[in-house]
Amino acid sequence: MSSIIEWCRKLATFSEEDGKTTRTFLSPPMHDVHRELSDWMRSFGMEVRVDAVGNLRGVLAGDRPRIMIGSHLDTVPDAGAFDGILGVVIGIALAEVASRRPHRPAIEVIGFSEEEGVRYGVPFIGSRAVAGTLDAPLIEMITPALRDFGLDPAGIPQCRFAPETSAYIEFHIEQGPVLESLGIPIACVDAIAGQTRGKVVFEGDANHAGTTPMAMRRDALTSAARWIVRVQKQAHTWLGLVATVGKLDVYPNATNVIPSRVIASLDVRHWNDEIRHEAVRQFTSRVNWTELLDQPAASLRVLDRTMHSLTSGAGHDAMILAPQIPASMIFLRSPGGQSHSPLESVLPGDVDAAMAFGERILGL
Ligand code: GLV
Ligand code: MN
Ligand code: MN
Repeated sequence: MSSIIEWCRKLATFSEEDGKTTRTFLSPPMHDVHRELSDWMRSFGMEVRVDAVGNLRGVLAGDRPRIMIGSHLDTVPDAGAFDGILGVVIGIALAEVASRRPHRPAIEVIGFSEEEGVRYGVPFIGSRAVAGTLDAPLIEMITPALRDFGLDPAGIPQCRFAPETSAYIEFHIEQGPVLESLGIPIACVDAIAGQTRGKVVFEGDANHAGTTPMAMRRDALTSAARWIVRVQKQAHTWLGLVATVGKLDVYPNATNVIPSRVIASLDVRHWNDEIRHEAVRQFTSRVNWTELLDQPAASLRVLDRTMHSLTSGAGHDAMILAPQIPASMIFLRSPGGQSHSPLESVLPGDVDAAMAFGERILGL
């Protein structure tokens, strides 16, 4: 449905960076996204609020048990226009269809405030608040951002999903090449790989780049580089394991100063949590490691067993809700397998297929 794609393209213009789509947790352009989507939801009778962790939530009353449909509104830096937000826009479009039916389930559409882990290095802040699994240290860490956005952390316990909610459904682009290679527009997701995220700190001694002989240096960046190569090589030990060092903070970060301190991120994923834990143990055994996330793999409810199903290497809010409520995902084919990039796209016919599937599942 081209209007869904147009909505996503328009929302992608609300960004922290000119000419790019970058919208991290509770950044100012999130207010613009909330305004636009709230106006749309209210236009056909949904009740809308922003909860205490910044999730946008609209509820359409119905005469059947409540179904929650959603995904996330934050993005990676220099993102595409569809990761996350497509699932929110499809949810609202389905609610709009439902609003014209005399009989329908109650529908709550939720746009999670944070899934990517860009701002604080920890993902799923929005969905963890809804699942009631946001821990106190994390709440303390995000409190200044909540207050800046006009939110009160005291309300976080009220972010929990309503007890009458019967299921969670998330539409999302596949973010990989499988469906395109099979020529399939949409598919069900049966499981999501578990993930570990954290940081490693390397220490050295800052000194003059021109006067300190090579043999007399303690260079933190060189230590980090050796470790990164070790992780990259060791990751091949376990079939299907992926390990990524995607971020380095170098201090003092000057051309002519030997680096005194480096903070490196680490992201490790596998379907099997024991294998992931063992890999993380080995990667981090001889370094100064702080773990920020240990998210178990999740099994999802497959909505239609006659459809193709696949497992997800990417993390999704559905994995946070799955232990507490039946959670399902539908992937839409990703042209070129492109995601986490401005080249991300989706085909109008595949969006139509997702809408038709959603209408069938909701009994509209
Ligand atoms: C979310 O995009 C992830 O990193 O899996
Ligand atoms: Mn996503
Ligand atoms: Mn993403």
